[in-house]
Amino acid sequence: MAHRVPRFITDFFVYETAKSVVVKSWSVGIINRVVQLLIILYFICWVFMHEKGHQQRDTGIESAVMSKVKGLGKFNNRVMDVADYVVPSQGGSSFSVITSMVITANQTQGRCPETDPKFKCTTDDECMAKLGSNLGNGIITGTCLNNNNETTGWCEIEGWCPAEDDTVSGKPMKEVENFTIFVKNSIRFPLFNVTRGNFPSSLNQSYIQSCHYDSVDDPFCPIFKVGDILRHINQSFDSITDKGGEIGININWKCNLDYNVMYCNPNYFFTRLDAAFKNSAASKGYNFRFAKYYQSEDGTEHRTLHKAKAIRFEIIVSGNAGKFSTVPFLINLVAAFTSVGLATVFCDIILLNFHKGADEYKAKKFEEVSGIVSESANNRLYEGSQMSLKALEKRSNDSGTFSIGRQDPSNQ
Ligand SMILES: *[C@@H]1O[C@H](CO)[C@@H](O)[C@H](O)[C@H]1NC(C)=O
Repeated sequence: MAHRVPRFITDFFVYETAKSVVVKSWSVGIINRVVQLLIILYFICWVFMHEKGHQQRDTGIESAVMSKVKGLGKFNNRVMDVADYVVPSQGGSSFSVITSMVITANQTQGRCPETDPKFKCTTDDECMAKLGSNLGNGIITGTCLNNNNETTGWCEIEGWCPAEDDTVSGKPMKEVENFTIFVKNSIRFPLFNVTRGNFPSSLNQSYIQSCHYDSVDDPFCPIFKVGDILRHINQSFDSITDKGGEIGININWKCNLDYNVMYCNPNYFFTRLDAAFKNSAASKGYNFRFAKYYQSEDGTEHRTLHKAKAIRFEIIVSGNAGKFSTVPFLINLVAAFTSVGLATVFCDIILLNFHKGADEYKAKKFEEVSGIVSESANNRLYEGSQMSLKALEKRSNDSGTFSIGRQDPSNQ
């Protein structure tokens, strides 16, 4: 019957079980012990040096930020204080410091010529073609205003007049470099219920009032000079005030709570956030408009329009905390112990391939036992030593069950 079953099926339905072959060889024995020792040493070092591996981690950092800018500058011969140049004024994690403005004073509702070069015209037809355009300062009426009978004029708009001319812009307020930003950041790791502030309460009042952050000398000073931040990100003052820009003040908390919570302190670093768009043609830099409204005595509404170029600051808080936990530690420990078995794999490779007498070892290690045990002695179903034959006979009397402590068959 058996010979009719295709070979690949009989080859597939086999069972492999391990058999121990004791090799009394100095060279392989030494290699085995050395490799085992190395693996154990590696894991001891790993457990001690890589302590984060068996920590429970909390990445769900909760954070609140308060900021305050200080400094006085001069723009267009006007002294500017915090109320003039910080928008919004509440002091949150995101705010802008205005560096220059185009101010269009005394605007009222009415009709007047455009100022944008896109709306130059010689005939009314050109302006009619631009009806519905939302690129200008007001609604296009379709009339071309040729003041003083010049050959070119501007399309007429209806809206706030006179229209803003943003091609004229004052020099940026250079004192911004000396402005300081005070940052107060409190964080909490909810998993471990640990709360920290970004400067130690041990810092005294006079230090807090006079220090400036420096990554080496004053790493815990929460006051940042704008000029220092620009130096950290290798940006010149002109490059950022030219069109405005965005700067990230990153506060990173990495806390190992196996140590005293006193060592749980923030790291600061800075990034130019709009660098990602520096090669894009559209929307370079950062600017925004705002207006201040007032009424004249006759009741007409006026406004002063400001187009501001600014440096926008974003305070970005990130971090994680770790604390020893038994479960990851035990998992690592079990992994360490099972890895000691790798020495066997390594020694087998040497023994079965490169050691002298490799073929003999192979014969001892792998042997085939047919399911029809009674025929085995006659049919040479396996190649092996006389020892293996005896072992086979032993198992043939065993009704398929392996029994521990079975006597050597030669004694039977
Ligand atoms: C910034 O302050 C320093 C001294 O504190 C002063 O010498 C310098 O002129 C100031 N820079 C600007 C642009 O005002």
